[in-house]
Amino acid sequence: MAINPLAKELIIRFNINRFIETGIWKGDTMTIVDGWFKELKMDYFMFEIDSSEEYCKNAVKLGNPNILVLQGSSDMALRQLMWRWILPWDRVMIYLDAHWEEYWPLRDELKQVLDLKNKPIILIDDYKTPGRAYGYDTYHWNDCGTEYIKDLIKDRVEKVYIFDKPNKDNRTSGILFLDRTEEEIDKMLEGIPVIKEELY
Ligand SMILES: C[S@@+](CC[C@H](N)C(=O)[O-])C[C@H]1O[C@@H](n2cnc3c(N)ncnc32)[C@H](O)[C@@H]1O
Repeated sequence: MAINPLAKELIIRFNINRFIETGIWKGDTMTIVDGWFKELKMDYFMFEIDSSEEYCKNAVKLGNPNILVLQGSSDMALRQLMWRWILPWDRVMIYLDAHWEEYWPLRDELKQVLDLKNKPIILIDDYKTPGRAYGYDTYHWNDCGTEYIKDLIKDRVEKVYIFDKPNKDNRTSGILFLDRTEEEIDKMLEGIPVIKEELY
């Protein structure tokens, strides 16, 4: 559901200036992250994607000039967004949380996002955490976790990181730091509770 509060620390440490969310629903994450950027007085722009007209309309109604709302299936909307709006020097965080329908877009979303070459940070909500009793999602007998995506990401990450502190719904997020060394990531994450999961 709503983004893990530890993501705020990543936004600060990696000086994120572009935040993309797939799956708006009631806008909880949108409101929280917008609030973080404002509180931190950071230069930012957010992109909110949902296939539901209703949820998009509600987000547009807020009239926030720092938020662009895109209606459509998240994989296609991400493609459009990346070509038009993300510049090579942007520092991007992408929060993948679009699901609920028959079609689970996670793998197709990742295929789009993997085209980015500016070391984006990708958060996948409701992620399965090894050795912990946190809740996670399962679609069509596939758990939302490393096993389901490792063939796509194996050349771009050494390990998957997972916040080792769940949110209020006892859920947490997997984190993909694309194209960074483990040493670099560990230095940046000092003091943040994470689990590192091997791909094999
Ligand atoms: C779990 S909710 C998102 C919760 C929200 N991120 C939050 O933190 O409050 C899932 C959302 O994904 C949207 N959704 C489902 N399938 C989608 C797709 N293929 N493309 C875009 N949005 C989708 C649903 O309309 C719903 O709003």
